[in-house]
Amino acid sequence: MTQDEMKQKVAETALAFVEEGTIIGVGTGSTANKFIDALAGISDRILGTVASSEATAERLRGHGIPVLDLNDALTRVDALSVYVDGADEFDPGKNLTKGGGGALTREKIVAAASRRFVCIVDESKRVEHLGAFPLPIEVIPMARELVAARVRAMGGEPVLREGFTTDNGNIILDVHGLTINDPRGLEDELNAVPGVVCNGIFSHQRADVVLMGTPSGVETIE
Ligand code: A5P
Repeated sequence: MTQDEMKQKVAETALAFVEEGTIIGVGTGSTANKFIDALAGISDRILGTVASSEATAERLRGHGIPVLDLNDALTRVDALSVYVDGADEFDPGKNLTKGGGGALTREKIVAAASRRFVCIVDESKRVEHLGAFPLPIEVIPMARELVAARVRAMGGEPVLREGFTTDNGNIILDVHGLTINDPRGLEDELNAVPGVVCNGIFSHQRADVVLMGTPSGVETIE
């Protein structure tokens, strides 16, 4: 099975977590795109979606799937029933690195607004420790050098993602060379640096379920 086929399988498997008559959160990236395409076949069963990026909103609308503003959604329901999204890495504790597509801030918000986070990945995303994938940090543009200096002091090498602006009008620093032994601690430490909007460690918002595509089928990790 190719990587693309594994992504397709996990995307289809995630449909089983979509609860009838609810609002669901939808992630960003190539695996999430396959989920959106699969969701189109059952979209009459849900009230609507909340998108984690402009690109995802556009793809959902392209299928005729209703996209709601998160604030409006949360005046109708206590929480979104499920958030379905990919990841760049996941560890045995289901902590994630996300933000390869630059949508980490809205992804973390929508994940936090959801009762359950179902993460859909192929087996290449499994790691023992997060950190091999450069850690994305969304930063207010004027704080770029301040945040970069703080990150260097933590042992990382920040690289500006050239020519990229987030949906929120900010920049991304991709941090290389970090050893992430304590995902929760580093997530908090980075969030405490003024100018950091969000970092790509999802420990507070780790996955509840990981659906991992392998050549022999989909493995469910709970
Ligand atoms: C988007 O900002 C990311 O968090 C994605 O969820 C992540 O990069 C996974 O993307 P793929 O499914 O394309 O690998």
